[in-house]
Amino acid sequence: MTEATTSQEPAATTRPPLIELAGVEKTFKTGKLEYRALRGVDLSIAPGEMVAVVGPSGSGKSTVLNMITGIDRPTAGTVAFDGARLDEMSEEQLAVWRGAHVGIVFQFFQLLPTLSALENAALPLDFLRRGSTKERFEHARHNLEVVGLGDKADHLPAELSGGEQQRVAIARSLAADPGLIVGDEPTGNLDSVTADEMFRLLLRLNEEGKTILFVTHDRDLAARAPRVVEIRDGRVVRD
Ligand SMILES: Nc1ncnc2c1ncn2[C@@H]1O[C@H](COP(=O)(O)OP(=O)(O)OP(=O)(O)O)[C@@H](O)[C@H]1O
Ligand SMILES: [Mg+2]
Repeated sequence: MTEATTSQEPAATTRPPLIELAGVEKTFKTGKLEYRALRGVDLSIAPGEMVAVVGPSGSGKSTVLNMITGIDRPTAGTVAFDGARLDEMSEEQLAVWRGAHVGIVFQFFQLLPTLSALENAALPLDFLRRGSTKERFEHARHNLEVVGLGDKADHLPAELSGGEQQRVAIARSLAADPGLIVGDEPTGNLDSVTADEMFRLLLRLNEEGKTILFVTHDRDLAARAPRVVEIRDGRVVRD
């Protein structure tokens, strides 16, 4: 494991990790074929870090993210979040854990088309049954303001630009006040100017204390992240 030991990253060395993958392997079986997508991934992320994950297509980036969000499980090795072992949790425990601790932003936004921006941003709180309807909408409205969309709360996704839709998705990811925001190519479907805005929004959320982990194909954006992890052939080759 390559730990940062330079003085500009005291958080990484003095605080216990928020996320810790140790010896993580993932083998996918399709029919009689087996594919070793992850071949021993060690990765430690401290609370408050912002990490870009890069690497060629098919190298295992999404698979690593799915380990960290508990969407998928390792074939071998351990995945821990704040000391809790995700690889030992039941599906139900994982769903509850994920709802409370992780916000996920996808490449294609994945908003519900018949719901307004406000309703989309409130959705995770509906699933968690957290607070009254009024409180859920107040909180969602606040998060739309955080992402600069307070004036478009009543718009349907089709009435918003791609960048605005992604901001709604980020507002939705903030709904349960998770400590960790994970994005799989969150800027992948946006033009470079809008991608830059989105990146700056993620930076700001990071400055406010969120741990941010995102996959990107954009070398320029990755270069601006405080930490870059490169994955090749199912291994971390540069950190
Ligand atoms: N559910 C699955 N079943 C079988 N093989 C899979 C499955 N998911 C991923 N793989 C394989 O595992 C490897 C890693 O996939 P992964 O999606 O993590 O790549 P990636 O780095 O995210 O690529 P991209 O940049 O194209 O999104 C690929 O070869 C892929 O075909
Ligand atoms: Mg991927």
